Amino acid sequence: MERPSSVVKELVENAIDAGATSISISVSEGCRTISVADNGHGMQPEDAILAFQRHATSKLSCADDLWRLTSLGFRGEALPSIASVARVTCYTRLHDSASGFRIDAYEGKITSTETGCSPGTTMEVVDLFYNVPARLKFLKKASTEFAHIQEIVQSLAIAYPHVAITVEHEGNIQMRTSGSGELALVAKEAKLFTGNESLLEVNNHDVTHGVKVKGLVAKPVHFRGDRKAILTMVNNRPVRCPLTYKALEYAYSDLIPRGRHPFAVISIELDPQHVDVNIHPTKKEIKYSQGNEVYLTVQRAIVTALRTLPRPTFAEQQQQQQQQQQQQQQQQDFHPIETSEHQPAVAVSLIVESRSAQADVYETQDAQIAYARLEQGGQQDGNDRRSFVAESLSRPRQLGFRDRLAHNLPAANIPEIAEASKAPRELPDGWRLLAYLKNTYFLIESEQGLEIVEQHIAHERTIYERLLAAQSEPGRLTELTQHLLISAPLRLSAEQSSCLKENQEVLAKLGFEFEHTADGGSLCTQVPLELAHKNYEAAIQELLDQLITCDHANIILEATKSVACQSAVKNGMTLSEDSIISLLCDWLATPRNDTCPHGRPVRMSFSMDKLFQMFHPA
Ligand SMILES: Nc1ncnc2c1ncn2[C@@H]1O[C@H](COP(=O)(O)OP(=O)(O)O)[C@@H](O)[C@H]1O
Ligand SMILES: [Mg+2]
Repeated sequence: MERPSSVVKELVENAIDAGATSISISVSEGCRTISVADNGHGMQPEDAILAFQRHATSKLSCADDLWRLTSLGFRGEALPSIASVARVTCYTRLHDSASGFRIDAYEGKITSTETGCSPGTTMEVVDLFYNVPARLKFLKKASTEFAHIQEIVQSLAIAYPHVAITVEHEGNIQMRTSGSGELALVAKEAKLFTGNESLLEVNNHDVTHGVKVKGLVAKPVHFRGDRKAILTMVNNRPVRCPLTYKALEYAYSDLIPRGRHPFAVISIELDPQHVDVNIHPTKKEIKYSQGNEVYLTVQRAIVTALRTLPRPTFAEQQQQQQQQQQQQQQQQDFHPIETSEHQPAVAVSLIVESRSAQADVYETQDAQIAYARLEQGGQQDGNDRRSFVAESLSRPRQLGFRDRLAHNLPAANIPEIAEASKAPRELPDGWRLLAYLKNTYFLIESEQGLEIVEQHIAHERTIYERLLAAQSEPGRLTELTQHLLISAPLRLSAEQSSCLKENQEVLAKLGFEFEHTADGGSLCTQVPLELAHKNYEAAIQELLDQLITCDHANIILEATKSVACQSAVKNGMTLSEDSIISLLCDWLATPRNDTCPHGRPVRMSFSMDKLFQMFHPA
């Protein structure tokens, strides 16, 4: 027994092993007086006496049971150890007994007397460490010791959400869980979560290896500087699980800022034969015999959870279906040379089509200039602005306006840019674009209140997810690349050039292809579709600079982040209303859309309540 929290841990674990559904813990006298009362099955007086002998346990009936442990205790060491450093009184009564027994264990003597008490067991520990001055001396302040107790009880309460647990310190209730069995609720009651997190369910079952993973993770807008909001359990035993920490780190690496940790409760279940809980004296750490399989199952479970979008309600689903049908109808009826006087001067939303796939290009200043020049030059054949810009991009000779493009991307290389053929898009019900602030922020009225979305990072996340999806779907990548008919040599530094050659495979996964000339130079022959209309030389230079400095283990994610960042519209670039709506619709349909790949929040939400509180501070 190291400190008061070790005593609490053993007593609460015993109560849980005894099938208790309600446990009350009370701590006082600088954490040297501890009482744990449960409504578990209780003990016969002779068993209770035996329980204070070393190595007496009711939890193993033969040696082989050690390989299929399902109880928290099994060594039969806790009660005698506690009794050797404190005065212990145990009240216990079987549920079908008329009366109970009181067992006193003090200085090696154990006595028992019949007494009245409620069914279950209450262990009272007084004068903890009275005979171990060294331990007593090293006890910290009561508040520190109590914090350790709270941490232990918190993890047990969450691991056993059906057990209602109350913790009292010096007469004040500090924690109370309902025993509702609802993990999210209990995690809040036990103060692991605040209750304000949006939570996603984690669930995965590797049937082949018999590994089940369950739990909850918070959306990446919630994180903290330490791991205090992460709880890991293996076969219902709260343990430190570095493997789960690693899986969480991986899954959140492009969702939250570096060095931050998410909110998560992860429970792993597997055949007890494949876990060794005996490597740590307090069973805080464990060893797996199939660590790799467990890691993969946990990692997939978390990654999948983070990809789930909030489920639409039934009414929303129906509405979406109707909208889709309407859009299909509108697409069939679409006339490219439709004139509208009321259209904003630059209401353009271009769709770049390459082979069968599509990527969106939101109209920016470049396109506006294109339009303006076209209009000045009187080259238009009709009044539809949509078709002008689209046409301008599809006609190589008209591309002079994009000077930086003209240099790197010969006009003949973009024959596949086709005219917009999508029907105008609509924001979800209850959403309305209110304003466009400094060509950077979209202000939106939503059902909840006000949303502010930053254009660059919303677009960046959308592209990032599209690129990742292309990497993981076999065959998809080729659809999302742009082959360059004429490829210009890349001007690279020696360092950039060697980085390119070293990471050619990684870059190929993103859709890049290169050729190398005899004199050591490199040509780009294919780019990800997202970069097809961009200054790809500058993008490649920037990408290589980032790869030179990044952690090699994350190189593909880093490369994807770089391409997404450079393909996305910049803050300050003017977007038309149609483009904003298009961008928002795409972003809303994107998984993991709360933060940019570097962990910055994409949206700020101000509910009506929050706004009220801001204007009416207490
Ligand atoms: N709260 C309790 N309710 C019922 N039985 C208990 C309780 N606490 C302890 N026991 C009994 O005392 C035995 C010894 O407990 P302990 O020393 O903690 O060893 P272990 O938990 O490893 O078996 C247990 O095996 C159990 O039979
Ligand atoms: Mg025990």
